[in-house]
Amino acid sequence: MDKFVIDGGRPLAGTVRASGAKNAVLPAMAACLLCQGRSVLTNVPNVMDVRTMRRLLLRLGCKVEFSGSAMAIEVPARLRCEAEYEIVKQMRASYYVLGPLLARFGAAKVSLPGGCAIGARPIDLHLKGMEALGAKVEIVHGYVRARARKLAGQRVQLAGTKGVSVGATINTMMAACLAAGTTVIESAALEPEVVSTAELLAAMGARIRGAGTPVITIEGVTELAPAEHRMIPDRIEAGSLMAAAAVSGGCVTIEDCRPDHLAAAIDVLRRAGVRIAAGDEMVTVEARRRLRPMEVTVSPYPGFPTDLQPQFMALACLSSGISAVTETIFENRFMHVPELQRLGADVKLEGSTAVVKGVPKLTGAQVMGSDLRASAALVIAGLAAEGRTEVGRIYHLDRGYERWERKLKKLGAKVKRVHEKMAT
Ligand code: EPU
Repeated sequence: MDKFVIDGGRPLAGTVRASGAKNAVLPAMAACLLCQGRSVLTNVPNVMDVRTMRRLLLRLGCKVEFSGSAMAIEVPARLRCEAEYEIVKQMRASYYVLGPLLARFGAAKVSLPGGCAIGARPIDLHLKGMEALGAKVEIVHGYVRARARKLAGQRVQLAGTKGVSVGATINTMMAACLAAGTTVIESAALEPEVVSTAELLAAMGARIRGAGTPVITIEGVTELAPAEHRMIPDRIEAGSLMAAAAVSGGCVTIEDCRPDHLAAAIDVLRRAGVRIAAGDEMVTVEARRRLRPMEVTVSPYPGFPTDLQPQFMALACLSSGISAVTETIFENRFMHVPELQRLGADVKLEGSTAVVKGVPKLTGAQVMGSDLRASAALVIAGLAAEGRTEVGRIYHLDRGYERWERKLKKLGAKVKRVHEKMAT
């Protein structure tokens, strides 16, 4: 198990590039299953979740070459239509193979994912989407089995009690591409990752209108063809780098990012006193003074992303007053709070709101990430903390952040990866 050792208190400075979006690549890899042949994805980040999805595609029977940031996926005429527990338990996004396998082969068996550190994360809306298209779905021995001789287009409402679902929108949209007739997805998620997947599907020959709006219309076609698609920049990685720059009191330019995908986060930073210059595909973040307190309430896109909530809480910990950070999507996404407290943060949880009283400084300590974004928050806090911070279980960070220690070092951070022996 690796950990990061960070000697904090150095302002970050320089230029860094955002990688391709993990949460756009995972559905894109699954979408390639919708037709036989060789599709190519570019700007693919080499992160653990992408490697896990690659392993899943290999087990299904695909060939996947991944070199540099290009991934070629060769899909044969027949596939094994099963995603086993072994892989799904490591990564919930394995779920994305359900729609494509069902649509193309009429049957799919996908393990239920089980527990998750940030909340319950049910999959009822994915199943609702498949059932609306005519699939018979049952849960047997921990697996979802879905069957349909031929999917048929339908009108389907995909809002759940927590609002829209990115995953269910994408899964249903992928399946609907090969369904007979027209599917209308209502209460669709608006996230850029939905739009990116729709663009890939369109390049494969799918007929989709409205991706990026609450109503997506898909006219089914009988066949799709392989395509080439460039992944959008990772807005969450870019937002995390913005938080790192701001917390360290530095000046950083992030290239190859999409500030338009980060409007809510940029707004919070500006209100807190961070200077931001945004271009088409770059953003410069400068914070020379202590930040003002902030009000952050998570909501689906274009609102403030839940995937940046922990990182921005790290920022709030050092602001000049009392901030409120409210999580509305995942009920348990506060596992970073006790770890931030170990660094000297003053945070109190009141239901789904964290009340953060800014302190003048954090002090380095040993802490541990519980999930991907919590780990990013701890690294960010460690960059600002006085003295040495050790962030354990960095494999969580490795799931979604490409070569982060190298990127941070390039910006002047003192951070190194250390291999930690497991205690026996
Ligand atoms: N939900 C249901 N039923 C469902 C699906 C979702 O009730 O069938 C609920 C969830 O429990 C949650 C809300 O709906 O409360 C939103 O979940 P959503 O389906 O939108 O999330 P997801 O597709 O499982 C993706 C990202 C997450 C990100 C969320 C929200 C991927 C692979 N994952 O998850 O990313 O937090 O959207 O934006 O795209 C991360 O990258 O760290 C991460 C957790």
